[in-house]
Amino acid sequence: INIIKVNNEQQFNETGAGIIASLVQTNPRVKLGLATGSTPVGVYQRLIELYKEGVVSFKLASSYNLDEYIGLPEDHSESYRRFMNEKLFNHIDMPLENTHVPSGNSSNAQQAADEYNRLLDEAGQVDLQLLGLGHNGHIGFNEPDEDLQGQTHVVTLDELTRQANARFFDSIDDVPTHAITMGIGSILKAKQILLMAKGKDKAEIVAKALKGPITTKCPASFLQTHPNVVVILDQEAGSLV
Ligand code: F6R
Repeated sequence: INIIKVNNEQQFNETGAGIIASLVQTNPRVKLGLATGSTPVGVYQRLIELYKEGVVSFKLASSYNLDEYIGLPEDHSESYRRFMNEKLFNHIDMPLENTHVPSGNSSNAQQAADEYNRLLDEAGQVDLQLLGLGHNGHIGFNEPDEDLQGQTHVVTLDELTRQANARFFDSIDDVPTHAITMGIGSILKAKQILLMAKGKDKAEIVAKALKGPITTKCPASFLQTHPNVVVILDQEAGSLV
């Protein structure tokens, strides 16, 4: 695991975007695994700038997002589809039909998860999977549990996760209770993993994930088994590693 510690927000975003952009430059048909949440927002902003400066084009690239809430209409302000459109896709030249997010508002969530699995199978190996890190060690929405699932599946969100995400909703009651997420196996199948975390509140879980025992109680600890992981941390999140 290759840990990069940066000094400020600008370096954090610059470093993340730089890794992604250089991959797109060397392989225009790159398949990117993308994440939502607050961590990658600045990275996406920087990628948009690089696109507008003519440094990088996503015309032939495609993307696969990790997860989506169940039960929100697609255009709901907090749906991950809308998040991705607003924070990235609407501002770059990746054709929208090349972008994939699990469908969280289908009447049959299990079926939607199965369809996403098929899509990932057809896509083959994703070149780079971008990940944020939950305070409980989740990646995607793979929550700590007695066992973990390999493929895309329906999950019940942890209370902690719902609380953490309540900041984006009017009240915690509005936060969905379920989501569709890529499984640990699908995530680990990526050629390269780029994990990003910032802030003091992530320091402890970063240490557990990267240096602690590999356990289903900390899903991110399974990243230790992957041969090509890059981790970008700010000084606070990296203070215990
Ligand atoms: C987002 C996702 C989540 C977040 C994690 C961290 O698609 O799958 O695992 O990456 O909850 O969220 P932030 O970045 O908001 O701290």
